[in-house]
Amino acid sequence: MTIMAKKLPLARLGVVGGGQLARMLAPACNNHDVQMIILDPYYNSPAGKVAFDQIEGELDDPAALQLLCERSDIVTFDLENVGTDILVALADQGIEIVPAPAVIRLIQNKFDQKCHYRDSGISTAEFTDFTEKSSFSDVEAFGLPCVQKTHTGGYDGRGVHIIRSIEDWENRLEPPSFIEKFIANGTELAVMVARRASGEIVAYDPVEMVVDPELNLLDYLIAPARVDANVLKLAQELAKKTVESFATPGLFGVELFLTNSGDLLVNEVAPRAHNSGHHTIEACVTSQFENQLRVCLDLPLGQTDLQGYALTANLVGEVGYNGRPVIEGLDEFAKIANSHIHLYGKDECRPGRKMGHFTLVGDDHNELIRRLASIRDVLIVRGDTPQ
Ligand SMILES: Nc1ncnc2c1ncn2[C@@H]1O[C@H](COP(=O)(O)OP(=O)(O)OP(=O)(O)O)[C@@H](O)[C@H]1O
Ligand SMILES: [Mg+2]
Repeated sequence: MTIMAKKLPLARLGVVGGGQLARMLAPACNNHDVQMIILDPYYNSPAGKVAFDQIEGELDDPAALQLLCERSDIVTFDLENVGTDILVALADQGIEIVPAPAVIRLIQNKFDQKCHYRDSGISTAEFTDFTEKSSFSDVEAFGLPCVQKTHTGGYDGRGVHIIRSIEDWENRLEPPSFIEKFIANGTELAVMVARRASGEIVAYDPVEMVVDPELNLLDYLIAPARVDANVLKLAQELAKKTVESFATPGLFGVELFLTNSGDLLVNEVAPRAHNSGHHTIEACVTSQFENQLRVCLDLPLGQTDLQGYALTANLVGEVGYNGRPVIEGLDEFAKIANSHIHLYGKDECRPGRKMGHFTLVGDDHNELIRRLASIRDVLIVRGDTPQ
C-alpha cells in the first residue's frame, strides 16, 4: 500500500456567498487545516467574520468571481443565485469548481430543472410551461388547484403562487413561469446527498419538514421522517438517483413530496448545504458540512448514520422589532440538555429574518416536540428597536 503525503494547509477553499451555510462550513475547514475564502457583497458577512480571508464583491460580478478562483484551489457555493456564465468558462479552463457550474445554471432555472427530471425519468409533479398567452381557461384545463412558479429567482417561497380560483389567477406571478399540479395533503421530505467525483455517493436519513398549517411556513424539521421504513429507503434511493443524474461531485439537498397515495416526487434540488441537513452537525456521525468539504477535497465520504432522533427549528426575528439583534432566554435554553444553538452572526435583525437555528437531539420524537414548545416560550431573537 502506498500512502500519499499531503501538504498542509490542505487547500484554499473559495466559497461563493458568505451566509450561514458557509459559516457552518468553517469548523470543518478549520479541522482540516483548509483556508476558507469568502466572496460576498458585504464585508464581514456571517461567514466572512469567521473565514481565513474575504473578498468584497457581487456574486454575479465576473471580475470578483475570477479573483476568488485565482486565490483558491477549489471553489464551492453557499447559494445558487450566482453568475454562472463566467464560472462555466473558468471551469472549462481547469479551475476546480464543485459542483460543476453548468449544473448550478441548470438548477437556477426551475423550469429547466423540471424538464431535466422529466427527461431523466425522475418522478416530479406534472407541469407545463405558462406563457404570456396562457389564459385562465388553460389553467383550468390543466387542473385546479395548481402551483405557479417563476423560472428563476424564487427562494423561501417567493416565486411560488397557488392558483385555486380566478382571484388567485388575477394575482398571478410575472412570466416566465410554469404551473404544476398541487400536491394536496402531502408530506414534505428532504434528503441530503453527497457525491464524490469517483461516483461514491452517500445519502442521509430523510427528514420531514413540518409546515405550520396556519402560517404556511416551515415550522420545524424532524429526523428521521415519521414514515414507513420502506418509504425512507425509497426516498434515499430517489434522492441518490436525482443527484446522479447531474453527473457532478457535490453536496445536494433534495426536496421531495410524499403524496397521500404514497408516491414520491422530486420537488427541487439545492446544489449546496441545506437547512434540512442542519441537524447532522449534532445528530449524525458526519455533518453535511464535513461531507461537503470531503467532496471538495476528494476524500472518502463520512458515515451519515443518525445517532438519535433530531429536531431543528429556525430562530427568526421577532415581529415588531428592527435593528441590532438581541437574544432573550439563552440562560434558560442553555440549561436544557442536548439542545444546541447556532447563531448566524447577522448584524441586522428584521421580522422573519433567519437569525439562527437550534437542534434538539433525543430518543423520542414526541419528547422533542414538547421540548420545542417549552423552548419557544423563552428563546427569542429580535431587533433592539421596537417598530
Ligand atoms: N406542487 C406543489 N404542491 C403543494 N405545495 C407545493 C408545491 N410546490 C411547492 N409547494 C409548497 O411551497 C413551498 C415552496 O416551494 P419550492 O420549494 O418550490 O420553492 P422555494 O421558493 O424554492 O422554497 P424554499 O426556498 O423554501 O425551498 C414548498 O416547500 C411547499 O410547501
Ligand atoms: Mg423548496
